[in-house]
Amino acid sequence: KKSIAVMTSGGDAQGMNSNVRAIVRSTLFKGCRSFVVMEGYEGLVKGGPEYIKEVSWEDVRGWSTEGGTNIGTARCLEFRQREGRLLGAQHLIEAGVDALIVCGGDGSLTGADLFRSEWPSLIKELVDTNRISQEQFQRYQHLNICGTVGSIDNDMSTTDATIGAYSALDRICTAIDYVEATANSHSRAFVVEVMGRNCGWLALLAGIATSADYIFIPEKPATSSEWQDQMCDIVAKHRARGKRTTIVIVAEGAISADLTPISPADVHKVLVDRLGLDTRITTLGHVQRGGTAVAYDRMLATLQGVEAVNAVLESNPDTPSPLIAINENKIVRKPLVESVRLTKSVAEAIQAKDFKKAMSLRDTEFVE
Ligand code: F6P
Repeated sequence: KKSIAVMTSGGDAQGMNSNVRAIVRSTLFKGCRSFVVMEGYEGLVKGGPEYIKEVSWEDVRGWSTEGGTNIGTARCLEFRQREGRLLGAQHLIEAGVDALIVCGGDGSLTGADLFRSEWPSLIKELVDTNRISQEQFQRYQHLNICGTVGSIDNDMSTTDATIGAYSALDRICTAIDYVEATANSHSRAFVVEVMGRNCGWLALLAGIATSADYIFIPEKPATSSEWQDQMCDIVAKHRARGKRTTIVIVAEGAISADLTPISPADVHKVLVDRLGLDTRITTLGHVQRGGTAVAYDRMLATLQGVEAVNAVLESNPDTPSPLIAINENKIVRKPLVESVRLTKSVAEAIQAKDFKKAMSLRDTEFVE
């Protein structure tokens, strides 16, 4: 009987629980044993039955309707060191796990792929230092890894949507609708900061959905005089037409053309100094990652969970580690390494000030 483990890693995202539930139940449905790794990579490094737990069908009952991740998550520094990964390998072997499905963002999936590529040398060192037996060494020659992308940022190349992104977007839109009401009462301007790390997807889509006056995203920076003039012209035009509210959305990773960050305070100052608007800043923060998942994320997470189990059962040492993506509404497998590489090249393009390339790598050319 094969044993398949699932863990959630990095920042939590709505829909992770649906993903874990689907993976656990598909694993059991396929006649395998199912494990969860508690607290992300930290649980692998710590090991033992408290952190690498066998689970049953009933253990994940009702999880689709719960927010966050019930198996815990962490950003683990120890796993970035070889000794941490060595302990992780030892603990997986001790628990008898053959395959690991990681639900997380690009950092977590990069860690997963590194773990798989290092696996032969890790187990060699474990057997040479008598931390595993010869039999275990022979039995666990290969570790099957698969990634499902759980992140509110929607920043992974090769997939149209990451698990959690549409829930966070929904949360942002609801919050902006609330802000809009008070802005209207006082005829105020609001600068709303949204999450997304170095990706502008949440800011851009929230801006479209709430018809914000102006949006700052990292992929399309302007010089400070350009954005100041453009924003003020647009806002002044809207105000001249009788609009009582002004909403400006700033992605947390927003930058100027010289790559310096644009903060909500910078935008606030311009709205006050140049337009004389009564302006407030609202930082939405972790409320964006809170609450239950929208139906789309539950559906995405469930279908991808089923596909992840199929993928680990079908892969062999020669097939590249898969990442489960959605492309044009179809659940598909992509090479994990390639997806991570492409995602990193967006950041590189931004650093090289090639913003057009960054945009196209994000598949968001439609805003051009
Ligand atoms: O990656 C998800 C995310 O919410 C980002 O949008 C944000 O930059 C970061 O995580 C916040 O991290 P933390 O929860 O560790 O403060």
